[in-house]
Amino acid sequence: MEFSEIRSAYLAAEDFSSQLLGEVPGVIATHGQLVFSSKPAVNVLWAQNIWHNPAVFSIESINDGAKKLKLIQRNWWLYSFQHHRRAKLIQEKLPHVSAKPLVFPCSLPPSPLGSWTLLDENTILASPNCSSLFPNGEVKFIEDRQGPPSRAYLKLYEALTLMQEHPQPGEFCVDAGGSPGGWAWVVQQLGAQVLTIDRATPEPKILSLPNVKFRKGDAFALKPADFDPVDWLLSDVVCFPNKLLEWASMWVESGKCGNFVCTIKFKGEPDYGIAKKFLGIRGSRVAHLHHNRHELTWMYRSHWS
Ligand SMILES: C[S@@+](CC[C@H](N)C(=O)[O-])C[C@H]1O[C@@H](n2cnc3c(N)ncnc32)[C@H](O)[C@@H]1O
Repeated sequence: MEFSEIRSAYLAAEDFSSQLLGEVPGVIATHGQLVFSSKPAVNVLWAQNIWHNPAVFSIESINDGAKKLKLIQRNWWLYSFQHHRRAKLIQEKLPHVSAKPLVFPCSLPPSPLGSWTLLDENTILASPNCSSLFPNGEVKFIEDRQGPPSRAYLKLYEALTLMQEHPQPGEFCVDAGGSPGGWAWVVQQLGAQVLTIDRATPEPKILSLPNVKFRKGDAFALKPADFDPVDWLLSDVVCFPNKLLEWASMWVESGKCGNFVCTIKFKGEPDYGIAKKFLGIRGSRVAHLHHNRHELTWMYRSHWS
C-alpha cells in the first residue's frame, strides 16, 4: 500500500474489526483496529470513529510532528499502534485534551477532536475531521457500582448522551426487556416514571424504587392502543432483529411515542440489511456504541424526521 492512497480510515471497537471489515468499501490495509480505505468516507455502522480525508505527512523529529499537527488544528487524540513511545512524546507536546469520564447527564464536548497515528517512525496520518467528538470514539462515564444491577445502563447513558435528550421528570417510559433493571434505574434517576416489561423479574432493589412499575410477560404483546401517549420507548429485549423492527415500526406509525432507544441484537453474522431498514424509518440513527457488544443501537426522535 502507498500511504498516499489512503482517502479515509475507520476505527473498529475492540473485538469488532471483522464486522467493520464487512462494511468498509475499498479496504487497502489495517493498522491495528484502524482500517484504511482508498475510497471517500461513508457512514458505516460498526466504526467507533471515522477519519475523513486524512492527511499524510513526513516529520523530521518529535517537535516537528507536534508542530505540524498544531498547524492543522488545536485538539488531537492519538491512536497508537506502533512506535508507541515516539507517538506518546509527540502527543505530550500537543495541547492538553481532557478525557475525564463524563458525569451523566451531560453535554457533548464543545470542540471537534482530530485523530492521528504514526504510520512509520517518520510519517503521520492525521484527520481533523472525525465522526466522533470522543477520544478514539470511546464514550466513558463515571460508573455507579451501587445503584444499577448490571453494566447495561451504560448503553442507555451513551445513547441518551449522543441524542442530547433524555426522559424528563414526570415523563412516562416503557422499558421492554428491562430485567435485571439497569435501564429502569437510569430512567427513575432522571425523575421519570418507568414501566418495565420482562419475562424475568427485575432485582428487588429496582422493584422497590418509587417510579418503577413491573409487568411480567412478553414485551411484544404491548400495543400502542393500550396506552395513553408514551414519552420514551426503550427496548433491550434479546430477540430476532426482524421482530423488533416489526414491533417498533408499529409504535412509530401509531404516533403514540416520539422517542425510542432500542438495541438490535445479532446472533452470528450481523445483518446489515436489517440495520438499513431501521435507518429507513425517517428520524432514525443507528450506531455501534462504545458500550454495545454484538449489537447496534437504534435511536429515533420524531423531531429528527
Ligand atoms: C440484555 S437483558 C436487558 C438488560 C436491561 N436493559 C438492564 O439494563 O438491566 C435482556 C432481557 O430481555 C428479556 N426478554 C427476552 N425476550 C423477551 C420478551 N419477548 N419480552 C420481554 N422480555 C424479554 C430477557 O428476559 C432479559 O431480561
